[in-house]
Amino acid sequence: MTATQEDIHFQADLTRKRLQLRLNEVWLAAGTSEAKQRDFAARLQEHWRPLFALLLRFYGSRYDFFYFAEKVLLAAARAWAERPDDLCELDRHRINQPGWFTSEKVVGGALYVDLFSENLSKLREHVGYFKRLGLTYLHLMPLFAVRPGDNDGGYAISNYRSVDPQLGTIDDLRLLARDLRGSGISLVLDFVFNHTSDDHEWAQRAQAGEREYQEFYYLFSDRTEPDKYEKTLREIFPTVRRGNFTWHDGMHKWVWTTFNSFQWDLNYGNPAVFCAMLEEMFFIANTGMDVLRLDAIAFIWKQMGTSCENLPQAHMLVQAFNHLARIATPGLLFKSEAIVHPDEVVKYIGPDECQISYNPTLMALLWESLATRKTTLLFQALKHRHALPENTAWVNYLRCHDDIGWTFDDQDALAVGIKPFDHRQFLNAFYTGQFPGSFARGVPFQENDATGDMRISGTMASLAGLEQAINENDEEKKDLAIRRMMLLHGVILSIGGIPLLYLGEEWGMLNDYEFVKDPAKAGDTRWIHRPKMKWEFLEELDDHIATGNGSIRSRIFESTKRLISLRQSSPALAGQTMDLFNTDNEHVLGYVRIREGHRLVVLANFSEQLQAVDGNRLRTAGLGRFFRDVISGQPHQTSDPVPLEPYQLLWLNRE
Ligand code: GLC
Ligand code: GLC
Repeated sequence: MTATQEDIHFQADLTRKRLQLRLNEVWLAAGTSEAKQRDFAARLQEHWRPLFALLLRFYGSRYDFFYFAEKVLLAAARAWAERPDDLCELDRHRINQPGWFTSEKVVGGALYVDLFSENLSKLREHVGYFKRLGLTYLHLMPLFAVRPGDNDGGYAISNYRSVDPQLGTIDDLRLLARDLRGSGISLVLDFVFNHTSDDHEWAQRAQAGEREYQEFYYLFSDRTEPDKYEKTLREIFPTVRRGNFTWHDGMHKWVWTTFNSFQWDLNYGNPAVFCAMLEEMFFIANTGMDVLRLDAIAFIWKQMGTSCENLPQAHMLVQAFNHLARIATPGLLFKSEAIVHPDEVVKYIGPDECQISYNPTLMALLWESLATRKTTLLFQALKHRHALPENTAWVNYLRCHDDIGWTFDDQDALAVGIKPFDHRQFLNAFYTGQFPGSFARGVPFQENDATGDMRISGTMASLAGLEQAINENDEEKKDLAIRRMMLLHGVILSIGGIPLLYLGEEWGMLNDYEFVKDPAKAGDTRWIHRPKMKWEFLEELDDHIATGNGSIRSRIFESTKRLISLRQSSPALAGQTMDLFNTDNEHVLGYVRIREGHRLVVLANFSEQLQAVDGNRLRTAGLGRFFRDVISGQPHQTSDPVPLEPYQLLWLNRE
């Protein structure tokens, strides 16, 4: 151990001792039981030193560092003291089962409360629907109080402690969380900690000239600094405004606004911001959250001369928040939302940082394979990008509320003979339906004329060809579109990690072109893939079950539901470990999942042609001579080629 580390430990221990009296005051005021105090003390013992070291690095030079450390510790103590009993009970289970979320039973869904059920109390009436589908994890899109007008789908938050009145109240949220927990469904909410809305109280006080609050944000009196920063920054929303700064007339200052002009980036260089957001985090967690989705995590630290994305300090800040969660809300998980280069995405994942993370690379490459009918690039990326540390997991998804960006690695592409720039151009043309023969009906998002960049909006069904097929009333195309959707679902349900459905997918919901009529949405094409739930579909489904004749929608719904339940009864699909299997057929992706003596081999045909995989090759996958596809029930044997229909997915089990 180096002298400095020893010194830090000494300081940490001393600080803790000096704060013991203040802790006792918290326990006394809240009437915290001795057992609960002991739990806290044990976790503090484990996490205080590393936490202290991190805080010291960021804020150690401040004259009031001791006062800051005290505030942080007391916030944690109060959060634990106020944590409801049922959550503390859950904490105990999860501490003993740190990989609980890697079970094959875990399947997620995401939705907007207003678009799905109007409000929180009505959402409680749909718990049965989630159970019917097999969901055990529910991500509600941001539901806190927001600025009027455009609020970036809830991501411009004006108060982290009150729910948007149109959706309900904090108590409604607590009740919903309790109901869901009772039904075995975990709840996920965003922690939008990179920025607040321009009408958050802090931003308002900054606008009123209060220096203390101006220091919560990045404000500049003239262009000198912004211009210097700008040299190395990307533009995230180039159609909103060029550059990353917005002029504020009232304050006469430039404000750092990475996203929309009304989303003001928070300055974590200021310890007051860390404390304030920590308290908001604990508040949200204690309403009954199992997971917090750390929104825009890549952007939370800025440094001149860098891209201001994925900086080491961003990781350290999240690690500090994570230690604090382990101390005060230990059952809580962090989910990383870093839609960046794959080498960077993975760095946020670890038991000490974010236990789970979106898997944007898999998402983009599944769509890539669908467009090219080849699994070469997907295979290349999966070879070295799927493995994760113990007790962490990918969140595998096909669509979410955001756009699709082609964030694959250029080197991965070059390694298989693909020119990255041209390929992205091709994918954009393909998914906007411009490429001859394309089945996709997406639209551009944030087209940047200066760089030629573009991302894609569109629902899963519209991108997979269902919209085109319905418009052309072509039965064969409809069939192919549905097969594509089931293929993609079958992969995310089996490849290792938490599968996450964006609700609406289970019905094959098409693009909603009506969003342009709402001025608060018209400028953002992502609204095209955020349609309103149509509950009449459910009645239609029940009618069809009664009469035995199914519509496209009920076929999609029933197939999705069935795949989910097959996953949940396949113990081989738990965990994250996946071994690629070389099918010797570029159209067919193959992988093996092995878990505690269970084994499942997956073959996925990404083309609309019949394909086959040599049965003998499958011997090396450990299937034995006779095996069966659990999806179709079809038996196979190694002595014959294994045929795959267009877009067919096989989950092969030893007989
Ligand atoms: C995240 C959200 C996205 C939002 C952005 C700014 O990337 O997923 O919808 O626009 O953050 O909050
Ligand atoms: C960028 C950001 C990501 C955000 C997305 C929204 O890709 O990296 O955080 O979700 O833009 O379009």
